[in-house]
Amino acid sequence: MDSILVRGNGALSGVIPIAGAKNACLTLMPATLLSDEPLTLTNAPRLSDIATMTQLLQSLGAEVASLNDGLVLAMSSHTISNLKADYDIVRKMRASILVLGPMLARFGHAIVSLPGGCAIGARPVDLHLKALEAMGAELDLRDGYVYAKAPGGRLKGAVVDFPFVSVGATENALMAATLAKGTTVLKNAAREPEIVDLARCLRKMGAHIDGEGTSTITIEGTDRLGGATHPVVTDRIELGTYMLVPAICGGEVECLGGTLELVGAFAERLDAAGVSVTQTERGLKVARKNGRVKAVNVMTEPFPGFPTDLQAQMMALLCTADGVSVLEEKIFENRFMHAPELMRMGAKIDVHGGTATVTGVDKLKGAPVMATDLRASVSLILAGLAAEGETVVSRVYHLDRGYERVVEKLRACGAHIERISA
Ligand code: UD1
Repeated sequence: MDSILVRGNGALSGVIPIAGAKNACLTLMPATLLSDEPLTLTNAPRLSDIATMTQLLQSLGAEVASLNDGLVLAMSSHTISNLKADYDIVRKMRASILVLGPMLARFGHAIVSLPGGCAIGARPVDLHLKALEAMGAELDLRDGYVYAKAPGGRLKGAVVDFPFVSVGATENALMAATLAKGTTVLKNAAREPEIVDLARCLRKMGAHIDGEGTSTITIEGTDRLGGATHPVVTDRIELGTYMLVPAICGGEVECLGGTLELVGAFAERLDAAGVSVTQTERGLKVARKNGRVKAVNVMTEPFPGFPTDLQAQMMALLCTADGVSVLEEKIFENRFMHAPELMRMGAKIDVHGGTATVTGVDKLKGAPVMATDLRASVSLILAGLAAEGETVVSRVYHLDRGYERVVEKLRACGAHIERISA
């Protein structure tokens, strides 16, 4: 298993290009299943999660070609030969459940394994299933699989009122509703930029959708969808992660492709901590306003609130802030697995349930640490960049799921970082 070696090296400055969003691409790819015409995505990120989704779609009979060094995904689902998403692929990635809605909507039946994914607490898919049931689907859960059928071969429009916000359930229901008979209204829908991006792409394919980006989305079902070419929206989590580099190390970094709209609540917390974020013509420029950052409190929430996917990285910053910060994780249980690893580097953190209290220290110290999940892995790299001495982060396969070319991007800013092959 590869690891990453980081040596703290003072201030870091430079320009970092931000890739297309992993989480947008993972829902845009299954949208190919809705049509027999080609769907081409540009600005795709080069990540192992994208390779897993490619493998899953190909196992169903879809054609997926990775062009232009992986930046373009040319897909076609005109010959879907298998409507069963197998456990062997699905277990690797929770987002695999996103093939269920499109397959059921277009073909009237589908079998999908219940997913695995990051070990960040129990992550059921009951909301996905309830939404499809509301649209008339008959579901049978057995042997670890969901057997789904639409009576008469077609889903029907329905009012789906989510009890709480779920990004994935909103995406699955949105895609399914595009081919259902009649009107679907999704209430308490997720408002994430990735949902807006999906709706825009589906509209290019011929879907009738209104209200994306708000908590009520209305979809008028249509008989068939066509092809489209669509650029994947910028990855706001990768963006936020690299915005933390000058915040934690000093220096100035410009993140190309970044907009304040994508990271509003996060940028506001950085501002409160003493980090300036400026919109330029080509991205976001970030630098500390004065010396050491100040402690701030953070609570994760659905968009437009502070994203749970930036909580681990923000914790790394607050480990070196002046004062005591309180981080509340409201989306996932058990999402503080990075805390004990940061403590190995000298951080002072108390975790009680979904709350972590972080008392800032002057300096972190390099140590061997272990990545426990995707965002935890990059928080340890950020901590390593700010620490004295050497940090070795093991289990970097987590990192490869969601960050492309980390070593190259950080080296371009002057970081001492290298990948060690096992
Ligand atoms: C997506 C993102 C993930 C991010 C999360 C929250 C992708 C591929 N992943 O995950 O990076 O951390 O949004 O912003 O886009 N829940 C249920 N039942 C369900 C569905 C969800 O109880 O059927 C719970 C989850 O356990 C969690 C909460 O709802 O506590 C929110 O999860 P959700 O928004 O669905 O996250 P994902 O779509 O899995």
